[in-house]
Amino acid sequence: MKETLRNMVRENHVRADELIYPVFVREGENICNLVESMPGIYQYSLDRLPEEIDRVVDAEIPAVLLFGIPAHKDEMGSGAYDENGIVPQAIRFIRERYENLLIIADVCLCEYTSHGHCGLVCDGVIRNDETLPLLSKAAVAYARAGADIIAPSDMMDKRVGAIRQALDEEGFLYTPILSYSAKFASAYYGPFRDAAHSAPGFGDRRTYQMDSANGEEAMREVEQDIAEGADFIIAKPAMAYLDIIKEIKRKFNIPVVAYNVSGEYAMVKAAAANGWIDEKKIVMENMIAFKRAGAKMIITYHALDVARWLKEDA
Ligand code: PBG
Ligand code: ZN
Repeated sequence: MKETLRNMVRENHVRADELIYPVFVREGENICNLVESMPGIYQYSLDRLPEEIDRVVDAEIPAVLLFGIPAHKDEMGSGAYDENGIVPQAIRFIRERYENLLIIADVCLCEYTSHGHCGLVCDGVIRNDETLPLLSKAAVAYARAGADIIAPSDMMDKRVGAIRQALDEEGFLYTPILSYSAKFASAYYGPFRDAAHSAPGFGDRRTYQMDSANGEEAMREVEQDIAEGADFIIAKPAMAYLDIIKEIKRKFNIPVVAYNVSGEYAMVKAAAANGWIDEKKIVMENMIAFKRAGAKMIITYHALDVARWLKEDA
């Protein structure tokens, strides 16, 4: 009876239908490569992708977040906005086979640039304004391929407005923008950069991603993105930034998505592999923490496990 009452008064719940699973698609054939620093996470070529997407659909996870790994990179990151690039190909591939899966396309240049930065580089400097048309072009290419949601993660100023305008002009008036507004320059992205081959070749991302000391600046970024047309907001990383999630929710009352990033995942997996923590309990405690802080949806590499655990315990 005590457990029954506890269930009845429980304030927050984790649900599979609010999870988003990141997927790495790679140019090439017959590829299913383990990302060493992210046990359980693989890069897939299109021909092998159904193995992974079938698991997502079977787990009743409603959405994937796509990241592309091109065969070739260049100064301009042209693979990001090529209509036949890896992400448009993957979107069309998934759209044809899985009618009801929500496809979220991450928009950034860093996986496609030879220097690994999220924007254009000229004389060693990231060129904010010159990057905007390229991001817009990528967003339109992904929408045209069939993406349901566009998620810019580059952190250039004014990109949400530029992307909104480009989508509208091309007739994608109802394609929502999920903006990585509160994205901090973080060491927690380390394993992702192994997965996406996107580590910057020089310098770091601190000229465009936020300083982890700044909570109020994060609110200004969110405010600006909402004014430019963001439909919902990502806070990232999540675990060390729960205060940011809570503050965005309180101030703007807009759906907030917690991005439980690669380094957070790697830490949990490493400790669990050593038998130092109880993986299921720790992961579920982290998930409920995101909800308690005010997150509506959760992007997490643990999504398949979380969905399975929820089913087992139902
Ligand atoms: C690219 C991008 C990154 C992540 C999502 N999109 C890496 C970065 O900014 O370096 C990080 C995701 C993760 O660590 O799981 N702009
Ligand atoms: Zn980037």
